[in-house]
Amino acid sequence: MAGHSTYEPQNAGAKWLERRLPVLSLVHGSFVAFPTPKNLNYWWTFGGIAFFMLVVQLITGIVLVMHYTPHETLAFLSVEHIMRDVNYGWLIRYLHMNGASMFFIAVYIHIFRGLYYGSYKEPREIAWILGVLLFLLMMATAFMGYVLPWGQMSLWGATVITNLFSAIPIVGDSITTWLWGGFSVGNPTLNRFFSLHYLLPFVIVGIVILHIWAFHVAGNNNPVGVDPKSEKDTIPFHPYYTMKDLFAIVVFMIFFSWFAFYLPNYMGHPDNYIEANPMVTPAHIVPEWYFLPFYAILRAITFDIGPIPSKLGGVIAMFGAIAVLFVLPWLDTSKVRSARFRPVYKFFFWLFGFTCVMLGWLGAMPAEQPYVALAQVFTALYFAHFLIVLPVLGLIETPRKVPDSINDAVLGKTGEAA
Ligand code: HEM
Repeated sequence: MAGHSTYEPQNAGAKWLERRLPVLSLVHGSFVAFPTPKNLNYWWTFGGIAFFMLVVQLITGIVLVMHYTPHETLAFLSVEHIMRDVNYGWLIRYLHMNGASMFFIAVYIHIFRGLYYGSYKEPREIAWILGVLLFLLMMATAFMGYVLPWGQMSLWGATVITNLFSAIPIVGDSITTWLWGGFSVGNPTLNRFFSLHYLLPFVIVGIVILHIWAFHVAGNNNPVGVDPKSEKDTIPFHPYYTMKDLFAIVVFMIFFSWFAFYLPNYMGHPDNYIEANPMVTPAHIVPEWYFLPFYAILRAITFDIGPIPSKLGGVIAMFGAIAVLFVLPWLDTSKVRSARFRPVYKFFFWLFGFTCVMLGWLGAMPAEQPYVALAQVFTALYFAHFLIVLPVLGLIETPRKVPDSINDAVLGKTGEAA
């Protein structure tokens, strides 16, 4: 990884290892001496918080598996057994359940931080693209995890989402049957979802390492979006940012604990405490909150678009909403990174944030008027932000004067940052 390591092994063991596998100097160069912009604010702690949540999910998940049985007749009962009989099983499960939501909260903030400060722009495109891939993998993992307790929402949520593949022309039905391992969501589906739910977090760990590597090559972006020019602009990662991240993680843990201990089922659906029953469809099938904006986009396409039937159109729009993020670095034509110096972009950033919140709300509403019409308006706004606003704005907006360096911005010498 980048960063000039000044690491000198201190004892014989470290010297021995260093000559054979220089992991100690790698860690030192990446997380101790790593030169980091001195002006990072608390929004930059959410990558570390996301990483912490990933570790929490791995540890609690591995313990849950010791008591869980992935079989259609036993899954629900084994979760009840965890809740009632296993020592602190309720705590492990509540941490894992709410941990998933906390992980998404941290990553959503992390993404919006990137959007506000233009962290996706040259030369950090790969870090951004790997981030979008992480987001996709997280969604796949969370979706399959929600199926495992085999409650009513597990079964019916899985049925709705896997059925989307049947919208693909010609091969759609075959793909869906293949995914299910049968003719409906059943025991083979539960088994393979369990297998993949266990596997994917480790894939996520691998991609996170690449993600960190990618932004370490370029160095961190920062709130003014100006690259460090001299030693005066940076400080070593340790102790400055190790301590700041640690503090942020502790504060976040308080927030997390509040949910895990006082509102453990607040973000869940009560129907998932009823065992899966293929003969009874719940009145409203609602996904977990972090999927709601995308669910709203899926349901907003209620009309055929030329030869594309509405169902396929909805699926394309939903996947398109994520796909557009992959090409974001090339859609934004402005050279100025930080929204601090882009007054018009700042307005559209907040409009986009509002759009996502509204889509989230609409995703939880029944598919009837006026919600459908509103979802259509906000879906249009979502795509317009990326496909019209960002390309055009870079060409017509006059940015404010950008500071000459981070040091100048911090001291208020140049630009309008201080
Ligand atoms: C498993 C999920 C993720 C983890 C653990 C993670 C971790 C991190 C960490 C530790 C940092 C450095 C600290 C910081 O900037 O906050 C970082 C930076 C970054 N992340 Fe992520 N990330 C994740 C997901 C994402 C996603 C979903 C995106 C975007 C779609 C993204 C985009 C970026 C970018 C562009 C940077 C460089 C930022 C800069 O220096 O300004 N990450 N990530």
